[in-house]
Amino acid sequence: MYSFPYRLLHWLTALLVFILIPVGLYMADLPDNAANKGLIYEMHKSFGFIVLIMVAMRVFLRVTKGVPKPLVTLTRFERFASNAVHYMLLVLLIIVPWAGFIATSACCAPLKLFSLIPIGLPFDLADKTVELLFKLHKFGALLMGFLALSHAGAALFHHFVKKDGVLKRMLG
Ligand code: HEM
Ligand code: HEM
Repeated sequence: MYSFPYRLLHWLTALLVFILIPVGLYMADLPDNAANKGLIYEMHKSFGFIVLIMVAMRVFLRVTKGVPKPLVTLTRFERFASNAVHYMLLVLLIIVPWAGFIATSACCAPLKLFSLIPIGLPFDLADKTVELLFKLHKFGALLMGFLALSHAGAALFHHFVKKDGVLKRMLG
């Protein structure tokens, strides 16, 4: 069983990721004069920054306390596939918010956490680099969404079809 703080971080992150992806796609398509565009951007960036912090805490917990070993009932393929997807998700959970944070700090509208606390990075980047970071942000987020849906599907398959304890390890 994963520890309580670890489970909390997992589910809060999952909730935010599944909200941030559609909101990000929606807001990036809004015309410049749309009402509340600035507010939606600020909320996306603020909650995205919360994900960035939660993932840092999660990596810290993983490194210092470890995570439970895979269940012995998993086949060799399941063990390999779940490990690969978990690591890819963790890497994307780091890359995606950092790419958004660095790009927005270096270009146009630095983060003001919940419209209150300015948090920026003290450097400029060439326009081309910012553009590249936003591309990484977008395609990283889409890949993460796809992997997360497959991952959630696999967890539900284990729970309802294989009826092993995989989902319970994360539900508590
Ligand atoms: C896990 C966290 C995050 C996810 C899943 C996410 C996801 C997305 C997605 C899917 C888009 C749409 C991209 C497009 O259509 O161009 C987007 C746009 C954007 N995101 Fe994030 N984001 C996250 C965190 C952040 C953070 C931390 C920041 C900055 C502090 C940020 C800043 C932005 C900005 C400024 C855009 C608009 C880009 C544009 O107008 O082209 N995001 N995000
Ligand atoms: C409804 C959605 C989700 C369900 C049902 C779910 C379920 C689970 C379960 C059962 C585990 C434990 C697997 C095991 O080791 O036995 C797990 C681990 C994990 N999940 Fe999810 N998950 C969901 C969404 C997400 C999302 C959106 C992400 C990331 C974007 C994510 C990232 C991870 C990672 C990285 C692990 C490996 C443990 C770790 O953090 O080191 N999950 N998930």
